[in-house]
Amino acid sequence: MLSEQNLKKIEELKTHYPNPRPVVLAALWMWQDEHGWISEEGMKYVAGLVNMPPHEVYGIVTFYTMFNRKPVGRHKIEVCTNVSCMLRNSDKIVKHLENRLNVKMGETTPDNRFTLVEAECLGACGYAPMLQCGDEYYENLDEAKVDRILSELK
Ligand code: FES
Repeated sequence: MLSEQNLKKIEELKTHYPNPRPVVLAALWMWQDEHGWISEEGMKYVAGLVNMPPHEVYGIVTFYTMFNRKPVGRHKIEVCTNVSCMLRNSDKIVKHLENRLNVKMGETTPDNRFTLVEAECLGACGYAPMLQCGDEYYENLDEAKVDRILSELK
């Protein structure tokens, strides 16, 4: 279920389009914002809201890495390992994060504080290597900067 407030927003958004399908991304964001991740139940629920077959919603959720298909920690750290970041040593950043957090890529720390995931290009190639955490981009990373970031994330 979504909150009354979000259901009202969805209904309002639907009035901007000839059919409700374009609202699917906003509805999925709202679901993730309320639940932290998007379960199969969530996909079916959103599909019903926007009159789409559930398999199409599943296709969207599995296409965009911004959607979580399983529970994540309070801070989801997405490290870009694509070409520009790789050429600027993102592998060292990944290794450092794995050592500091004592998890591998795709895992969550036992205290549920951090989830570490690999990301495709996040569009900040000129500032490689970089990572995204929440709405923030952290760029021109080195190991010392990663340590500062981790200490700032409560
Ligand atoms: S390759 Fe890392 S941001 Fe583009």
